[in-house]
Amino acid sequence: MEFFLDTASITEIKSYKELGLVDGVTTNPALLSKEGNDPVEQIREIAKIVTKGPISAEVTHAEPDKMVKQAIKLAAIAENIIIKVPASVPGLQLAQKLKAEGIRMNITLIFHATQAAPFIKMEAEYISIFVGRVEDFGLDNRQLIWDTRKAIDQMGSSSKLLAASMRNPDYLNEAIIAGCDAITIPPECWKKVYYNPLFIIGEKEFMDQWRTLPDSAREAYEDLS
Ligand code: E4P
Repeated sequence: MEFFLDTASITEIKSYKELGLVDGVTTNPALLSKEGNDPVEQIREIAKIVTKGPISAEVTHAEPDKMVKQAIKLAAIAENIIIKVPASVPGLQLAQKLKAEGIRMNITLIFHATQAAPFIKMEAEYISIFVGRVEDFGLDNRQLIWDTRKAIDQMGSSSKLLAASMRNPDYLNEAIIAGCDAITIPPECWKKVYYNPLFIIGEKEFMDQWRTLPDSAREAYEDLS
């Protein structure tokens, strides 16, 4: 299981890397523009920090020839750049060309398993299913995780299932138990995992009670020699 960080922020990537939570990074045009820097430089900087795991960079052109040229140039920025290809008809054309060039791909913006099927068949490396974005419209799309897992397995494909658009710990849990190969998690989602109010209350209760012991007893326990 790989944990990617879903951000283009250098500060966040550095701090989550120290926690062992950066097996790779996913960016997209919105995440890059949020940083307000030159996007090519931003990807280059990310690649200096994350030297092994895949760093996804998305094509922004809509016209097939331009998409191919852009993808090839983006892939040349660093060895571990993988190209985010939209799961669309132009994306299918692009994916076939990139496959022939041996360029790694992450197929993005998938909302239904059938949308993924042709890319699974051509064994694109990562298949990114967008789970949480559907919730923004009041719908629950967790079934997408199970359906796409099954599709990959039934088709005997080497594609890896990547759960994206994570919004909360429940989705993260579902992606883990459904057997996703990778999950891309925004820092905000990790914060929801580790700033669980029950954990915070529990930890405080333990320590409040602990402080009722005499100093000498606590020191004997804390400074064992
Ligand atoms: C993943 O690769 C995407 O960039 C990301 O998960 C987008 O999700 P969101 O825009 O719905 O948060």
